[in-house]
Amino acid sequence: MPAVVTCRAAVLEDVEPLYQMIAGYAEQGIMLPRSREALQRQLRHFVVAEIDNELVGCGSLCQLGKDLVEIRSLGISDGHKGQGIGSKLVDTLLEHAAARKLPKVMALTYEVSFFKKNGFEVVDTSIFPEKVWTDCVHCPKQHCCDEIAVLKVIAV
Ligand SMILES: CC(C)(COP(=O)(O)OP(=O)(O)OC[C@H]1O[C@@H](n2cnc3c(N)ncnc32)[C@H](O)[C@@H]1OP(=O)(O)O)[C@@H](O)C(=O)NCCC(=O)NCCS
Repeated sequence: MPAVVTCRAAVLEDVEPLYQMIAGYAEQGIMLPRSREALQRQLRHFVVAEIDNELVGCGSLCQLGKDLVEIRSLGISDGHKGQGIGSKLVDTLLEHAAARKLPKVMALTYEVSFFKKNGFEVVDTSIFPEKVWTDCVHCPKQHCCDEIAVLKVIAV
């Protein structure tokens, strides 16, 4: 029987597994690290995917402008990739963006094919406001960023 995947808003008990998952990806240079304190502060912006009470994926939304929001910290644990969980989390994040009346949803990513499958298009980074790049000062790759910008405009 296929495993039942639940996507839901993150709660306090998720902070430690979230921290571990993001730290693992940060070590590989795929995500920016987030401290436990930062995760607690930003918890309301996170969604998680779980199977049998085990956290297998996460993602968050960061508002960048009056109509623009960024998908951040999107990751699925090894062993659970390629099963539609990432797409389910993106759908959940898009629903949250729609509920907050934020029609432009962007991401900076190496996973362009995945985002294209989910209806995003590649766009030039210059279309985004300065605020998009404020987090880049914390990134070790700030002077040699090779991430691609993708955007989806949704109905709100
Ligand atoms: C990218 C990631 C979130 C995708 O999650 P996932 O659960 O594996 O993806 P899904 O199973 O929902 O895939 C949806 C579709 O995209 C495709 N896809 C998934 N990852 C892909 C990839 N790396 N390259 C090309 N296509 C990909 C799948 O084949 C699937 O297509 P299908 O519907 O035709 O079968 C996950 O692989 C991951 O955690 N990657 C490492 C962290 C990362 O890079 N995050 C992005 C930061 S913005």
